[in-house]
Amino acid sequence: MNKKIFSGVQPTGNLHLGNYLGAIKNFVELNNQKDNECIFCVVDLHAITVKQDPKELKKNIRETAATFIASGIDPNNSIIFNQSMVSAHSEAAWILSCVSRIGWLNRMTQFKEKAGKDKEKASIGLYSYPVLMAADILLYDATHVPVGNDQKQHLELCRDIAQKFNNDFSSPNFFKVPEPLIQKQFSRIMSLKDGTKKMSKSDPSNLSRINLTDNKDEILNKVKKAKTDPLQMPENIKNLIERPEAENLLSIYSSLKNQNLENSVKEFEGKNFSIFKEKLSDLLIEKIEPISKEIKKLLNDEQYLDAILLEGSNKADKIASKKIIEIKQLVGF
Ligand code: AMP
Ligand code: TRP
Repeated sequence: MNKKIFSGVQPTGNLHLGNYLGAIKNFVELNNQKDNECIFCVVDLHAITVKQDPKELKKNIRETAATFIASGIDPNNSIIFNQSMVSAHSEAAWILSCVSRIGWLNRMTQFKEKAGKDKEKASIGLYSYPVLMAADILLYDATHVPVGNDQKQHLELCRDIAQKFNNDFSSPNFFKVPEPLIQKQFSRIMSLKDGTKKMSKSDPSNLSRINLTDNKDEILNKVKKAKTDPLQMPENIKNLIERPEAENLLSIYSSLKNQNLENSVKEFEGKNFSIFKEKLSDLLIEKIEPISKEIKKLLNDEQYLDAILLEGSNKADKIASKKIIEIKQLVGF
């Protein structure tokens, strides 16, 4: 089947190994499969749901586009574009917010986590963020959406919104109900400092994550300092229970090596962590350092990156503006 792929990444800086293994690596694989139509979006409208410095935002938009390209997404094969350059996203988000129910949004755990204790002070944008995400996907009739595990609930909401709109406006197949593409294994990479916390852009400790712009020495240092436990490497997969750091590091190794966790456990059973860490650093350097170097090279050519985003946005706009006209007709505008 011809798949239509859509996904987005926020230009909020510090793109890291979790973004790569949970999402971007899959984008590349999907982009390389024949017959897939892929659209990858730098979701800057989502980024401003929390305060951004305008200069930093501009830099991070280019850096996100550079990361897509450096990771292996071919801009001639896929559309890489900037959400704010296609006005249909904002228009569709408003219309869909009138279809969405407050009760549905109240269940979103990411809002609860990001808003923290003082919800009254969170932006309205942060609350309605998943509706904009639904607009992104539905405007392109995407059939499949590759994301990390943390976006699962938002995709379920997108499916509900699509179905309710189709129902409310008596157009059973108008919006395609998209399928999430979430890896079964390794869809949630954890912090290097705490195996129970997600690896995150916003963790104040730079040692908690491998950034995709880290050089060899930074990677070596972070793996060296990564938290472990006092035991030897596990002998079988059951020994990983209640050893979140060991499980996370082995998952990172397995995902980079494209092998299952069982095989990685076998490879290192009963060995010292130091031996494993050496191999892990080698593998990270082999896979991540070329990406890091390419990102830095691309960032020196702002004109090229801006041209890719402009061209991608023009192509995206052609698709999205057609769909928004149809949406408006159904609504009665
Ligand atoms: P964001 O940076 O929040 O825009 O996320 C971009 C993509 O990376 C989304 O598909 C997320 O689900 C994925 N992602 C972010 N953090 C992680 C993580 N720690 N492990 C796996 N996937 C992640
Ligand atoms: N909310 C996603 C995240 O933080 C980013 C995103 C925005 C997205 N729009 C999307 C992902 C559409 C997939 C499809 O990771």
